[in-house]
Amino acid sequence: MNEWPGYQACKRTLISTLSGKVLEIGAGKGANLALLPADVAWTGLEPHARTRRALTRAAAAGREHQVVAGRAEAIPLPSASFDAVLSTAVLCSVDDLTEALAEIRRVLKPGGRLVFLEHVAAPPGSALLRMQRLIAPINRIVDRGCDPSRDIAPAIHAAFSDVALDRYTAPGLLKIPFIGGTARP
Ligand SMILES: C[S@@+](CC[C@H](N)C(=O)[O-])C[C@H]1O[C@@H](n2cnc3c(N)ncnc32)[C@H](O)[C@@H]1O
Repeated sequence: MNEWPGYQACKRTLISTLSGKVLEIGAGKGANLALLPADVAWTGLEPHARTRRALTRAAAAGREHQVVAGRAEAIPLPSASFDAVLSTAVLCSVDDLTEALAEIRRVLKPGGRLVFLEHVAAPPGSALLRMQRLIAPINRIVDRGCDPSRDIAPAIHAAFSDVALDRYTAPGLLKIPFIGGTARP
């Protein structure tokens, strides 16, 4: 278990390693835009129309960018076209994690990588996992599909052959577990 540097600091470290053409899946309202290195050519994928409008406004300031409508399970972009795919707090929400990870692989150029920071399921047998499972059905409705009990790390290991991830526990009452790292096909 790694010491939790804080969500924002963790994102800043991971995102600072990006270069070239980057696809951000579930880009939301563009919270990560300010953290991207200046020379990144960024494409944001976002399925929800209203969020996408906010994303387009946020992305308009400055860098080369493209905002695309779509889901991670069916990325409407060519194969082998990105140096990296970025995902922060998105893989909890996709409808089909296996399909999404296969699509991420497909759009990566040879030598490309997935960079991720995700909250994940608590350890088996823990009270927190029981609670995550209990609230998952409601949470999926009120928080756009987010399943707090989803165990994302095994799916990343199954989809990618070279995975380097750190595990964190956020401080506070709930002690939410996170994983952050990179995965290469
Ligand atoms: C918790 S927000 C995170 C937003 C952003 N990544 C961030 O870190 O600020 C989850 C995002 O995933 C998007 N999302 C939900 N289902 C998705 C899917 N199947 N494919 C891609 N994005 C999805 C939501 O619309 C939302 O913008």
